[in-house]
Amino acid sequence: MKRLLFLMSLYLFSPLCIAAGESKPLDSVYVNLSDKASMQRGARLFVNYCLPCHSAAYMRYNRMAEDLDISEQVLKENLLFASDKVGDLMTTNMSAKDGKKWFGVQPPDLTLVAKVRKPDWIYTYLRSFYMDENSPSGWNNTLFENVAMPHILYGLQGNQRLAGTDPETGKPEFTLVSEGSLTPEEYDATVRDLINFLVYLSEPVRLKRHSIGVFVILFLLVFMILAYLLKKEYWKDVH
Ligand code: HEC
Repeated sequence: MKRLLFLMSLYLFSPLCIAAGESKPLDSVYVNLSDKASMQRGARLFVNYCLPCHSAAYMRYNRMAEDLDISEQVLKENLLFASDKVGDLMTTNMSAKDGKKWFGVQPPDLTLVAKVRKPDWIYTYLRSFYMDENSPSGWNNTLFENVAMPHILYGLQGNQRLAGTDPETGKPEFTLVSEGSLTPEEYDATVRDLINFLVYLSEPVRLKRHSIGVFVILFLLVFMILAYLLKKEYWKDVH
C-alpha cells in the first residue's frame, strides 16, 4: 500500500518537478500530426542526420513507412542507410562502445525523446547550438550546457555565436557568423519537421487515435439524430 501511495505521488508530482527544473525559457513549436508531408521530411532528416549516432530502436522501418504513407520504393532508396531490410528496427550502426569513446557518453535512443523532453524543449535545443572554443566538439548549447553532441545541423543553420541574453525574456541571443544552406526561417521550419516526426515516433498510435476520434464523434452525431427522430415517433401517439 505504501509503495502504491509512493508511486501515485510520484506520478502526480513528476510534472511539477520537471517544470521546476525547466527554468530556461523555451521557444514553442506547433506540432501537427495530420501534416504527413512534414513528418515525411522529418523522417528523412532523422535517418540522414540523427540515426548515425542515435537509434530509434522501438520503431521498424516498414511500420514508419506505412504510418507516414511512404512507398516501399522511396523507403528502400532514400531511407534505408543503417540497415538493409524494411522490417528492421531503426537501430544505429554506431556501437555503444564507440559512442562512449568518441563523445564520453552514449547518444541516447530517441524513440521516446519527445515524451521525455517535450517538443518545445527539443525545438529550442536544436536551435541553441553556438560556437565555443573551450568545448571538445567546438560547440556548446545554451539549453543543454556542455552538451557532448556536436551541432549536427550546422550545414543547414550555419554557425552562430552567443551574443548575450534578452533582459526581458531571458532568452539567449545569437549572431550568425557563417551562413548555412537555409535561411533562419527555413531552418526553423526544418527543425519543426523533425519535431513533428519525433512526436509521431514517441507515440505512433496517436495518428490512428485521431482518426478513430473523428469517427466516434460522427457516430455519436448520427446516433443523436436517430434517437431524436425515434423520440418524436414515440411521443406522437401519446399527445
Ligand atoms: C555525432 C553524433 C550525434 C548525432 C549525429 C546526433 N546526436 Fe544527438 N546527441 C549526441 C550525444 C553524444 C548526446 C548526449 C549529449 C550529452 O549527454 O551530453 C546527444 C543528445 C541528444 C539529445 C538530448 C537527449 C536527452 O534527453 O538528454 C537530443 C534531443 C538529441 N541528441 C537529438 C538529436 C537529433 C534530433 C539529431 C539529428 C538531427 C541528433 N541528435 C544527432 C550525439 C549525436
